[in-house]
Amino acid sequence: MIKAVTGTKDLLPSDNPRWKYLEKIVDQVFTNFNYKEIRTPLFEETEIFARGIGEDTDVVGKEMYTFTDRSGTSLTLKPEMTAAVVRAYNEHSLGTQQPLVKLYYISPMFRQERPQAGRFRQFHQFGAEAIGSKSPLLDAEMIQMSYEILKRLGLKNLTVKINSLGLPETRESYKKLLKDYLKDKKEKLSEDSRKRFDKNILRIFDSKFESDQKILKDAPKIIEHLDEESKKDFEIVKVLLTKSNIPFEIDPALVRGLDYYTKLTFEIDSGSVGAQTALVGGGRYDLLIENLGGKPTPATGFAAGIERILLARKNEHVDLTRTQYLDVYLIRLDEVTEKEVFQLASFLRNEKLTVDFDYLNRSVKSQMREANKMNARVTLFVGGENYKNGSAIVKEMILSEERLLRIKDQTGIDFDSTELQKWLNEERGTCGYGTCQRTVKTGFRYCKEHDLQRPK
Ligand code: HAM
Repeated sequence: MIKAVTGTKDLLPSDNPRWKYLEKIVDQVFTNFNYKEIRTPLFEETEIFARGIGEDTDVVGKEMYTFTDRSGTSLTLKPEMTAAVVRAYNEHSLGTQQPLVKLYYISPMFRQERPQAGRFRQFHQFGAEAIGSKSPLLDAEMIQMSYEILKRLGLKNLTVKINSLGLPETRESYKKLLKDYLKDKKEKLSEDSRKRFDKNILRIFDSKFESDQKILKDAPKIIEHLDEESKKDFEIVKVLLTKSNIPFEIDPALVRGLDYYTKLTFEIDSGSVGAQTALVGGGRYDLLIENLGGKPTPATGFAAGIERILLARKNEHVDLTRTQYLDVYLIRLDEVTEKEVFQLASFLRNEKLTVDFDYLNRSVKSQMREANKMNARVTLFVGGENYKNGSAIVKEMILSEERLLRIKDQTGIDFDSTELQKWLNEERGTCGYGTCQRTVKTGFRYCKEHDLQRPK
């Protein structure tokens, strides 16, 4: 059997309600902050990422899915959105229409990393980019938005880490300081870190080796060598986070794996997802727009990994997304033709009800079983004595309550569905899951929030 490519995953119908729920919260929060959605192609010319992210980064050096198309152009499946969004911003001169452009996205990304829990080769990010302002308010807003989304998704075990990489000049002089400090310790560093020493010295901070981290413990910290402007902006972000009740830590080792960052960088980690702890990563990138051919324009943004967030929700047992359900399952009794059931289903679907029925000619008992499996709120029996007289029995599935509804006359369907709709919208007591007192509608045992506990 041919299987899905390593590091990629099918999203089966049983997974999708969780994704839809997350996307709904993401849309809600971004809309609350007045960000507008952007979608860009899945692939770009390789140069966009090579130049944007930096040749010496792991993403560009080792992880990109790059191929040459039939016309000889080098293309790359997008490993991240920031460079792609900036390409679109420049190409469509979005900045001439509005001085500050606030964009968000939800999209698949591709990186050829070693797959493990929370790390995939095709994964999905949502994120935001605010292009056109130097204001640290927007840096704080990025942290606030991503934190708010994680909170609304019910996550608790979160750590916000912030750092500043300063202006490019600051960073260059800091790199010299770090090099001086590490020069005579170079031989003791891991092979990876020795390579980084020459190529991209700041990335040494990302080393997973304890021996490297021990050496780095007393290294000079960039946060103590900031220029005045970066220092001032960093202080403002700290004040704004405190005022927004967002707890944070300063992490001088937070250099991030992409080269375009200037000034503020941040990550939000979860203690609930194993080795790959970062749910969110972001920061300011004031030079990227001109680096990709636009006018000098400051910008800031973040991206979050959807698979990791869903894993954290699962591990924290906050994933109470309701399972799929049906409003009505039509049960065909023997003497009625399939055509009649088909017509009735079409009628009810036109009335905006979610309806299904049996296409496999199964017994009434199996149809009932199917209705239960699909979490039908009511079943409607097509057939029997009542049906001959133009009515059908409708049965509520939780309380087993029955009602007789008129559905046809001699000329065909004569169904006023308002009565059924009214019934489905009736409130029928309280949830009773734990101490939950929310109201429950027809066909549900628990409220929307706790419906996942509904016995199968
Ligand atoms: P990043 O830190 O490379 O930043 O990725 C952001 C998030 O994407 C990570 O925190 C993680 O949750 C998720 N992620 C990354 N790689 C994988 C993977 N292989 N499998 C599963 N999840 C993954 C960026 O991409 C920047 N563009 C963020 C940004 C936007 N900075 C400014 N604006």
